[in-house]
Amino acid sequence: MLVHITKDFEELSREAARVVANAIRKKHDLRLGLATGSTQLGLYQELVRMHRQERLDLSQVVTFNLDEYIGLASGHPQSFRSVMFRDFFDHINIPRENIHIPDGAPRSGYEQYCEEYEEEIRSAGGIDLQVLGLGKDGHIGFNEPTSSLASRTRPKTLTRQTVEDNRRFFGAKEEPPHAAITMGIGTILEARRVLLLASGAAKARAVALAVEGPVTASVSASALQMHRNATALVDREAAADLLHREYYERALEMTRKLTPGRLW
Ligand code: GLP
Repeated sequence: MLVHITKDFEELSREAARVVANAIRKKHDLRLGLATGSTQLGLYQELVRMHRQERLDLSQVVTFNLDEYIGLASGHPQSFRSVMFRDFFDHINIPRENIHIPDGAPRSGYEQYCEEYEEEIRSAGGIDLQVLGLGKDGHIGFNEPTSSLASRTRPKTLTRQTVEDNRRFFGAKEEPPHAAITMGIGTILEARRVLLLASGAAKARAVALAVEGPVTASVSASALQMHRNATALVDREAAADLLHREYYERALEMTRKLTPGRLW
């Protein structure tokens, strides 16, 4: 995995936006996989700024979100659908019909719906670039520890750690959801390129396990080591537990010189 360490969250957000924007400029109808979580907010703000000030055109982009809570009333302000529109889609020129976010309460039932979501990704030609966040327990999407590394889109029970991490988004009297529908690790690994974002000291352990630990179902993000074009973009605090930091800097320099296309 290519590792790119930035000074702080601002630099991480700018760098992530640069990767996404370059990908869109190269392929106007980019199939873009998106994530939720506070780490993504800087990226979305920067893309909105680029749209307004640098005429970044997203009119042909097709997006697929990783996941959605199960058990929230439709239109709940903390559903990932609401969050994505509020923080991103409402501020750019992407047509509504190009946006795909899993439905947390599908009428057709979960099994059929999850197959349909996979089919939508396939018939769109697959995901060109998948952006990911990282849970403290190493999850990507909502693929909690022991998720099969070959898993596909399906409903998933959330760990206590994840429920507690998400509590900050919900009112004092409201219980956060305990389940979600999420793309599987197998689904994510099929994206042509993957960009994993992590910021802050609370993610340092998960980053080290994902990048340098063994590939294991106990740390879903470690499966990205099997991907041939995955980049971990992490800030200094999140990189604190990595052993080979100096090597990553040199490797990134060399990639910039010899195969800049890999970085877009
Ligand atoms: C949720 C999402 C993940 C995301 C994680 C990190 O669990 N399902 O896709 O990676 O949040 O959130 P944050 O960036 O707020 O730490």
